[in-house]
Amino acid sequence: MIDDNNMLIEVVNVTAGYGHQVVLRNVSLPIYRNDFIGIIGPNGGGKTTLIKLLIGQIKPFSGKIVHNSGAQDSFIGYLPQVSQIDRTFPITVREVVLSGLLEKKGLIGGYNRQQKSLAMELMEQIGIHHLQSKSIGLLSGGQLQRAMLCRALISEPQVLILDEPNTYVDSNFEGELYEMLRKLNEKMAIVMVSHDLGTITSYVKTIACVNGTLFYHPSNQITNEQLAAYNCPIQIIAHGPVPHTVLLEHPNNASHRIHKH
Ligand SMILES: Nc1ncnc2c1ncn2[C@@H]1O[C@H](COP(=O)(O)OP(=O)(O)O)[C@@H](O)[C@H]1O
Ligand SMILES: [Mg+2]
Repeated sequence: MIDDNNMLIEVVNVTAGYGHQVVLRNVSLPIYRNDFIGIIGPNGGGKTTLIKLLIGQIKPFSGKIVHNSGAQDSFIGYLPQVSQIDRTFPITVREVVLSGLLEKKGLIGGYNRQQKSLAMELMEQIGIHHLQSKSIGLLSGGQLQRAMLCRALISEPQVLILDEPNTYVDSNFEGELYEMLRKLNEKMAIVMVSHDLGTITSYVKTIACVNGTLFYHPSNQITNEQLAAYNCPIQIIAHGPVPHTVLLEHPNNASHRIHKH
């Protein structure tokens, strides 16, 4: 348990990776109730690994992750990176959305009427209700991402974790998505991985750069100099009212371009 009641998750000096490979070293990060943390960093820097640690999908080599979940069983809502979703799994959009309740469902029986209408409400709100009977293998990347967002939200989590939610969504929905997140942030903490720092800086409250380790930046204003100090190869370019980002080449390997993925 965590003493500070406003802290939901505490990552304490965690080193983690896969097999013998260390991906993250000495990472610490507290997540508070009203946080909206943007996680940035180069491809392969360990952003998804950090998220897997937060949701308990992998265990740290050393250090610890403490959840202040109390009695709540659906503490975290998680939107995986689209590339990690098995789309060959024969399941409809509606089933995917409802599967976000699996922990709450209990051992016997299906979903109750209230849960089904909540799923419908969310699908309407996010604009995919017409797809509810469609198999997920037939969806576009953006549609799949919306379905996964409904799935992450249906349990009304205290922490919403999103791994690159804007990778496939069209620019119209992207604006809507951020507005939606801003409203959700009144009720839950949000941790969002994104390469698109420029457009998210007006939504996130703080920034964490993950590149083998984690540099916490306690503000959404970040300069190129600070990014360089954090060894984070992302550059902000002011461009009209909306700043854009370009990704610089990885300092350790000039031939390796960093892309959105
Ligand atoms: N399941 C896995 N098994 C072994 N290595 C992995 C696995 N997942 C990720 N990695 C490695 O961990 C490093 C960090 O990956 P990841 O956390 O996905 O980075 P990011 O999300 O920042 O692009 C990469 O070198 C990647 O190859
Ligand atoms: Mg990733």
